[in-house]
Amino acid sequence: MTTPLAVATNSERAGTARHYLMCRPEFFSVSYAINPWMDPLAGADTATAVRQWEGLREAYQSLGHTVDLIDPIPGLPDMVFAANGALVADGRVYGARFTHAERAAEGPAYLRWFADRGYETLEASFTNEGEGDYLTLDEMILAGTGFRTDVAAHMEAQEFLGRPVVTLRLVDPRFYHLDTALFPLDGHNVAYYPEAFSAGSRRVLERLFPDAVIAEAADAEVLGLNAVSDGRHVVINAEAKKLSVELENRGYEVVPVDLSELRKAGGGPKCCTLEIRR
Ligand code: ARG
Repeated sequence: MTTPLAVATNSERAGTARHYLMCRPEFFSVSYAINPWMDPLAGADTATAVRQWEGLREAYQSLGHTVDLIDPIPGLPDMVFAANGALVADGRVYGARFTHAERAAEGPAYLRWFADRGYETLEASFTNEGEGDYLTLDEMILAGTGFRTDVAAHMEAQEFLGRPVVTLRLVDPRFYHLDTALFPLDGHNVAYYPEAFSAGSRRVLERLFPDAVIAEAADAEVLGLNAVSDGRHVVINAEAKKLSVELENRGYEVVPVDLSELRKAGGGPKCCTLEIRR
């Protein structure tokens, strides 16, 4: 079920209205380090993070998307990264099971949000970090492994959701989740940073997406691949300059956001956004 955002003329790409779940970073901090972006000594400013996050939420709303909110929980500073909370397809919710103890309580909190609203949920038996490592296209779900999500969870998600899951191996610790190295442009094509993937996975990506947008190191290093597209508009970190120009050349409308404070925890726009697909 997709609702067109606006009538597209021949020269414009067609976007669809989306439904997102977000979590205001009221308890955000960088108080532990579970990826190379995080420096607890340098920390991060909660008020700045909240202000930047509000900018992201407003961007979605002004594009015509629906944003639901889950209550933040004290003591869970990374809960703002809603993408990690679950994987939702066809109204079925595959729960997250976190790698690190620091984030473990987030999985049940997100799953409860969905269960309380009548969604069919599955508590995962294997480690997986939700949409951080699972990205849904029309014909398949791309799934990352190597740092967080266990390959056994790829199989579990495929069984539960009845959608083909394609495993991709991540090899650079800076790009520890699939959504830090790749994003869907629409239901059929992606943008990605090849160096984040193993040689075999790069060949898989070349085979599946011969027309992909290929990003360079400078754009990947500002988490430019952690972007959110509705098929027409791409919400992306403002610093990803070259990638933004390439997206515009391909006919996408770039919506730049500043999430520099959240990047101190290793997150960007996509990390803050869990898509609810019915
Ligand atoms: N500090 C968080 C972690 O390392 C950041 C998560 C970013 N989320 C994402 N979907 N990439 O788990």
